[in-house]
Amino acid sequence: MKLLKRKKSLSLLLVFLLMAVMVLTGCADESAGNEEGVKKIGIIQIVEHPSLNTIREAIIAQLEQEGFKDGENIEIDYHSAQGDPSNLKTISQRFATGNYDLIIAIATPSAQAVVGETKEIPIIFSACTDPIGSGLVERLENPGGNVTGTSDAVSAEKIMSLAMQITPEIKTIGALYNGGETNSQAVIKELKSFASKHGLTVVEATVSNTAEVQQAALSLVSKVDAIFSPIDNTVASAMPVVADVARQAKLPVYVGADSMVKDGGLATYGINYEALGRETGKMAGQVLSGVDPGEISVLTIEDVQIYINQETAAQIGVEIPADILAEANLF
Ligand code: TRP
Repeated sequence: MKLLKRKKSLSLLLVFLLMAVMVLTGCADESAGNEEGVKKIGIIQIVEHPSLNTIREAIIAQLEQEGFKDGENIEIDYHSAQGDPSNLKTISQRFATGNYDLIIAIATPSAQAVVGETKEIPIIFSACTDPIGSGLVERLENPGGNVTGTSDAVSAEKIMSLAMQITPEIKTIGALYNGGETNSQAVIKELKSFASKHGLTVVEATVSNTAEVQQAALSLVSKVDAIFSPIDNTVASAMPVVADVARQAKLPVYVGADSMVKDGGLATYGINYEALGRETGKMAGQVLSGVDPGEISVLTIEDVQIYINQETAAQIGVEIPADILAEANLF
């Protein structure tokens, strides 16, 4: 009896000792499954549209080139919020409390969500159109803090100049975008200043989710000569629907990104998102090697090219000037 009791208190002591060791070595938290030296990377993406998927794949490919391979020395935990802001919150909270070494946020809404959750874990954002206006960083050079990344700032002025060369007769332009996406707001502001300089009228149709896009596009058809959609994640996710509406109404759709042209838009002046993803991957590699994110300047991809969808042009009866065609990437 006595012996048994002593045995019991001995094993209790052992359990306590074991718990103390676990707490001290950090084994009690979520990193319990991590093998030593394996860095944990969370990737958060607002939605799965073609451009964002291209970016993610390029980031992962570049990380591998930098010597960081998923399943070997890094462990990538990828989540899409499927366009739902409440999912963004859940995912970013999980990343912020889960002992991650690095968080990569693709597109502005995802970056805003994670930046709101942690000031400690390094965050690299990718393809954020207006990093300062969206509250991600205070400045682009050596931003300080735990956040840096890449920007796809596009020029509405450039896209609209191209539009005026392709369809010089347009007078009224429909702006189709999600009013809650700060990345779109920045471009629409520029669209409006272009319009007022050139005597064009802008009619706005804003949406708050993908399900509203078709109706919003339809509402513009009788009022405008062309539709303009910035690098908007919500519209990009429903781009084939917009293209259908515009095709039937024989309206040109000018957009902010190559993938939106591929999905049926008429034209853009845009960046190469594969290249943007590669640059993001390089930054992620630097941070994993110990560089402080606050000391890496935000990189804006400046090299823009013309993208044209020839099939769309034929379907809506628009002839693309030969000099533009000669310069363009064609879908
Ligand atoms: N620039 C967008 C943002 O800041 C993200 C984005 C990247 C995007 N490529 C795109 C949006 C293509 C629409 C289409 O959130």
